[in-house]
Amino acid sequence: MMENSSTNDLAKIVKISLMNKSGEIFDEFNIRSGSNLWVFLRKRGVPIGAACSGVGVCGACNVKIIQMKSESLSIQNNFEKETLQKNNKAQNERLACLTRVFQDITLQAEYW
Ligand code: FES
Repeated sequence: MMENSSTNDLAKIVKISLMNKSGEIFDEFNIRSGSNLWVFLRKRGVPIGAACSGVGVCGACNVKIIQMKSESLSIQNNFEKETLQKNNKAQNERLACLTRVFQDITLQAEYW
C-alpha cells in the first residue's frame, strides 16, 4: 500500500538544536515534522519571547536560524516580515510562533 507524502511528512521526526552565544549546542530535542517551533520551545522550557502569546505581533520570539536545509521551515509570509520590520528585527530571522519546522534545524536566540 502506498502512503501519500503528507502522511509521511507528518510521521517524520525532526531534530531541533539550540545554540548559545558561544556557538555551543546546549540542547537538542525532537519534534514531529510540521510542528510549530514556538509551542515546542515553550514545552521544552526554553526561554522564548511571548509578549503577544504567540499571535505574531510583538516580535519578541525572533530566532536566528544557524543551519537548515532549503525546505526546513514554513515560508515566511508578509505578516511575519512586517512584524520583524516593525520591531526592528533582522529580516533573515524568524518568528518562532509563526514558523513550522519540516527538517532538522539549528537556531539561536539573543538571550541564550
Ligand atoms: S510571541 Fe509575539 S511575535 Fe511571536
